[in-house]
Amino acid sequence: MLIHLDPQSFSEEALLPAAKILQSGGICAFPTETVYGLGANAFNEKAVSKIFEAKGRPQDNPLIVHVSDTAQLKDICYVTMQAKQLIAKFWGGPLTLILPKTDRIPRTVTAGLDTVAVRMPSHPIANALIRLTGLPIAAPSANLSGKPSPTTAQDVITDMDGRCDMIIDGGNCLWGVESTVLDLTVSPPAILRPGAVTKEMLSAEIGTVIYGTGVGAPKSPGMKYKHYAPQAPVLIVEAEDAVSAVSHHAANYEKPGILCFGYAKEAFHLPIAIYAGDDEAQYAARLFYSLREFDRQGADVIYAIPPHSGGIGDAVRNRLYKAAGGKTIQ
Ligand code: TXA
Ligand code: MG
Repeated sequence: MLIHLDPQSFSEEALLPAAKILQSGGICAFPTETVYGLGANAFNEKAVSKIFEAKGRPQDNPLIVHVSDTAQLKDICYVTMQAKQLIAKFWGGPLTLILPKTDRIPRTVTAGLDTVAVRMPSHPIANALIRLTGLPIAAPSANLSGKPSPTTAQDVITDMDGRCDMIIDGGNCLWGVESTVLDLTVSPPAILRPGAVTKEMLSAEIGTVIYGTGVGAPKSPGMKYKHYAPQAPVLIVEAEDAVSAVSHHAANYEKPGILCFGYAKEAFHLPIAIYAGDDEAQYAARLFYSLREFDRQGADVIYAIPPHSGGIGDAVRNRLYKAAGGKTIQ
């Protein structure tokens, strides 16, 4: 079932069938301010395992539990002082916190970890849906495992049609990259995945915050898998003279594409050129949609000009480097 709702003006009644599906152990895709999520009742192991199946997600990659009210947290996790401070400042919004879990959250959700990821979205549809169910909702991004996260309902349909009980179309996602994941069970707190709540914003609130390193066993199990990858290989352009490096390299391909930032897209003279936007936030909002668009247009290679680091540019660079499997051209 597919329903269309305008996030600025929808009737909550229209969400009741979706809430029923979640309450009775089904799975439903819904918009958030970051990317679309695929939700299930976080207390229901059987419902949660349907998510892993629908996505083809490895069992050892834990899910984020979504709430609509901080009162729900007492059944999910132990809320530290630092967590309280960050919740007051950044919720609802694109910040996920890793905290010690309670016994009520099944291990299927946390992939056997003693910690749980929690977040409160700001998206009006996500919020109303969670509130109507009266439940915490476990929800990963609504893509097939390994594909770019969906930022439009059409992208959800492409990946999830026939694999879930309902899809709610609420238009395009605002941020376009998944929430920042911050581990508050370590000192100093570590960013396991950069997002729209930036390192700078977090440090201003709680002092030193570091980027979690990939050294040893990955702390955020999801980060070890190939991610965000379109069909065509992605290459990050780190060359000073991007135009000449790309045109030289692209001579080996039939239908090369360029994801362009800081240049006019015509400058590259490639058969496919997508403009990533005027600033890092626009780049983030268009990134996953653009990667999927190259596939739709049949690109056989994708060159991407990365934004500078800092702010939300860190989130874009992180996703691009994962999509490229670290491959660059100089
Ligand atoms: O913006 C978002 O966060 C979206 C929307 C739908 O809310 N959700 C999302 O979920 O991106 P997912 O499952 O695609 O990514 C969750 C990330 C994974 O990298 C996972 O490994 C990490 O969070 N994670 C979840 N629980 C964790 C835990 N207890 N400890 C460390 N990392 C955890
Ligand atoms: Mg995901």
